[in-house]
Amino acid sequence: MINQFVGPRSSFELEPIERASIDELRAVQLARMRRVLRHAYDNVEPYRTKCLAAQIHPDDLTCLEDLSRFPTTVKQDFRTHYPYGMLAVPVEQLARIHASSGTTGKPAVVGYTERDMETWAGVVARSLRAAGARPGDRVHNAYNYGLFTGGLGSHDGAHYLGCTVIPASGGHTERQVQLLVDLKPTIIMVTPSYLLNVADEVERQGVDVSQLSLRLALVGAEPWTEAMRREINQRLNLTAIDYYGISEIMGPGVAVECGETLDGPTLWEDHFYPEIIDPDTGEVLPDGEWGELVVTTLTKEALPVIRYRTRDITRLLPGTARPMRRLDRFTGRSDDMLIVRGVNMFPSQVEEQILGIPQLAGHYQIEVSRHGALDQLTVNVELRVDEEQASVPNLARELARRIKTVIGISAAINVVAPGVIERSQGKAVRVIDHRKLR
Ligand code: DLL
Repeated sequence: MINQFVGPRSSFELEPIERASIDELRAVQLARMRRVLRHAYDNVEPYRTKCLAAQIHPDDLTCLEDLSRFPTTVKQDFRTHYPYGMLAVPVEQLARIHASSGTTGKPAVVGYTERDMETWAGVVARSLRAAGARPGDRVHNAYNYGLFTGGLGSHDGAHYLGCTVIPASGGHTERQVQLLVDLKPTIIMVTPSYLLNVADEVERQGVDVSQLSLRLALVGAEPWTEAMRREINQRLNLTAIDYYGISEIMGPGVAVECGETLDGPTLWEDHFYPEIIDPDTGEVLPDGEWGELVVTTLTKEALPVIRYRTRDITRLLPGTARPMRRLDRFTGRSDDMLIVRGVNMFPSQVEEQILGIPQLAGHYQIEVSRHGALDQLTVNVELRVDEEQASVPNLARELARRIKTVIGISAAINVVAPGVIERSQGKAVRVIDHRKLR
């Protein structure tokens, strides 16, 4: 039923759906949407309750646009019905359980049937292939193994494609570099902040980048910028590919950038149906407008999720390398948006300004505090190794000027020595908001 297009250890060729016309794709989506709505309504009690309250029934769906009349699902639903209340199948039918990284409260527990596992491996394999990976590639997987979907999800997909997987997981950065030198992987899968740590360690160990065999990096699990991509590409002599996913929807493999166009992640719309909404009103916005990404899973058995509010801010762009639509680079999560003295800003905007100054490294942390009635923004950022300490006051002034000009906020800048800012082994903590901690 689900994976009619993918066979295990599939080869170089695109799946038929990747070459389908838009009309064919929309027809597949509509058939699957009908089925998944019915599945969720019949088997996920909290979702049926929402539909009853909204006086809507799966039979009311006559076209794809009708989806906007159905209730959304939010992270809180997973917490309220923790651990298994959102499942559409008995727990005994699960082949795997993961949990999403929640910083506060209970995690969202996500489950997969055997068939879901195959669908997931299929979309990750498809993502790797779209990025430019081929069977036989050696894949160093530095996403954390464990409950986080990034490690095992990427692992299974790379295996499924027919790659040789090196399950490095995150951390032990010295050893990571040794593995890169000795085992000569051609592809690395890793968060952008951790990849930067790996690049630092490559330099610290005096490894000549030409000794490495890396060609591609599948980079995601946290927001990152074009400036960060340039930095990574240049320092590690590879091509960094944007790789998107979210646990409640599946895990990694929801969208990926195609290597031939490098123009934003293509969303695998035969499995995940996207909408963009105004986060305040919930109104569905036309393609091309910025808003919150909402995703409906079209093929999941254990955890069909209807209209999941991802909190990720992006917009839908027409397909280029594939018939499926693309996502623009995420500015960040609406939860990460900071309001400082009334100005809305995302950490990624600060990242861009930092990386525009060659003497500063991409390791940074933003602190926001309140003094009396006034918010104070402080940016802590590292000087690059080998840069002159004497230049610090000028660099700080220059970064403050750029942030003021581009973002519109006065910031205090601390340029600190290399290695001072805490390193992530997975997702970096970019913001400490002391206003919320009080
Ligand atoms: O981070 C799944 C994943 C693992 C994706 C490995 C890619 C690679 P969660 O822990 O549930 O799942 O976090 C999902 O991470 O809503 C985004 O805010 C953010 N995110 C994921 N990929 C990207 C990306 C995994 N390429 C949350 N760009 C999402 C920007 C990303 N943000």
